[in-house]
Amino acid sequence: MTTASRAACVIGWPVAHSRSPLIHNYWLKHYGIAGEYRREAVRAEEFAAFVGALATRGYVGANVTVPHKEAAFALSQPDERARAVGAVNTLWLDSGVLRSTNTDVEGFLDNLDACAPHWDRDTGKALVLGAGGAARAVVYGLLSRGLEQIVVANRTAGRAEALRTSFGARVQVVDWTKVKSELAEAALLVNTTTLGMRGQPALALDLALLRSHAIVADIVYVPVVTSLLAAAKARGLLTADGLGMLLHQAVRGFALWFGRTPQVTGELRALAEADLETAI
Ligand code: ATR
Repeated sequence: MTTASRAACVIGWPVAHSRSPLIHNYWLKHYGIAGEYRREAVRAEEFAAFVGALATRGYVGANVTVPHKEAAFALSQPDERARAVGAVNTLWLDSGVLRSTNTDVEGFLDNLDACAPHWDRDTGKALVLGAGGAARAVVYGLLSRGLEQIVVANRTAGRAEALRTSFGARVQVVDWTKVKSELAEAALLVNTTTLGMRGQPALALDLALLRSHAIVADIVYVPVVTSLLAAAKARGLLTADGLGMLLHQAVRGFALWFGRTPQVTGELRALAEADLETAI
């Protein structure tokens, strides 16, 4: 297959909301690569057949979104980080073998590096809110960067406990109602819950107790500036937003499919921000 005929897609149901086509088609155009990135609306029951025929359909790989992340994991050869997180979002064909990874890990870390350089020099605690798939990617990423203490709080305590069981003693669990008492010791606060997302309740947390050099990250990207990030900015704290994470997580898929490592530019970010404002 020549570079000129390469295509990738995002597979989901529904898939209309996905921002991946905007990101990848921006890069294809920007780098003058004659590829294509499309949306593929595929029902859960049709997913296995679809990915089984990925090459026949002309695809070198794909992103997977709701509800296919677990099925994609089961139907592919996940790398080490995908296995640790337990979900995949990126597939690629490697000499006929369907491989997979979870790019939320590097999306989170690369965005944090870009927004708050040297964030990992502080040996203080990280406080992670939530215990879903995104939290698993964040915790895996923080551990991979050597953080010694990660405190996880989740509304449903059992899910936070499950995270500790998989990731070990560097992860501690605190009750969701006790988050406030953890703020003073947190060098990094990460929201991985859906709280603060448009249409969801806000994350009610008084950031006054955070240290003056604490960093605040949110994986929510609609709105781009959540009330959590607005409060952190008002306090003069460094922040890393969900849109930055979304853009950075797309880099590896593009590199795998189209053979070039793209840059997350200000122009791409502005384009994505404008799209988020008009489309939702
Ligand atoms: P993802 O895999 O994208 O992280 P998820 O598994 O649905 O998505 O996780 C959503 C997270 O937001 C969970 O931690 C969830 O808490 P529960 O495990 O208790 O469901 C959290 N969340 C969603 N709505 C919430 C709310 N109203 N209050 C507190 N946490 C909430």
